[in-house]
Amino acid sequence: MTAPPNQDDRNLGLTPTDVGLLATPLDFIAEDHDRIRNMCALIEYIADRPETHPEIVAQVSSFVRSELPALIADESSDLLPLMQRRCQPEDEIARLRTRLDAEHDTAMYLLPDALETLDALEAGRDDVPEASLHLLRNFAAHLHRHLIFENAILIPLARARLTPDDLNTLRARMTERRGLTQSKDRDDAP
Ligand SMILES: [Fe+2]
Repeated sequence: MTAPPNQDDRNLGLTPTDVGLLATPLDFIAEDHDRIRNMCALIEYIADRPETHPEIVAQVSSFVRSELPALIADESSDLLPLMQRRCQPEDEIARLRTRLDAEHDTAMYLLPDALETLDALEAGRDDVPEASLHLLRNFAAHLHRHLIFENAILIPLARARLTPDDLNTLRARMTERRGLTQSKDRDDAP
């Protein structure tokens, strides 16, 4: 079994994003983007070395199975609609939303095959076809391009345009999506 050279969970991005960051939801999303970046590097590593230790593969598949869909839902169901209401005409938010919705749809379309391949690798199957590994690499490449664009355009625009009320709404929705409850003082936070 092969393990990546650096075994530190934090550096590998294997530790789930701290839910305490939900107090500032855009920081949570930015941290999740860092996590996706690390996961993409790990997926590339795994696709090149299908004998990677199953524990590492399991943590990547857990991220792909639950955390990634939650993040995509945060952005497509909550963040982008809030921004559509708040942005200025020069922001061209409708165009931005169309592009990002399409990229999120592509990620969710590619996800089941990627997950099936990760599950097969985790189970130690040595007959995973190269075509499946290729699709897995494509999935990571798509996510990586997507997060670079969001970090460059979406996050700075959200920080500039969303009001404290918008951020409260976003925090409440993201908290609820993860089955957590908000503390009263967070509700009252500006
Ligand atoms: Fe996204």
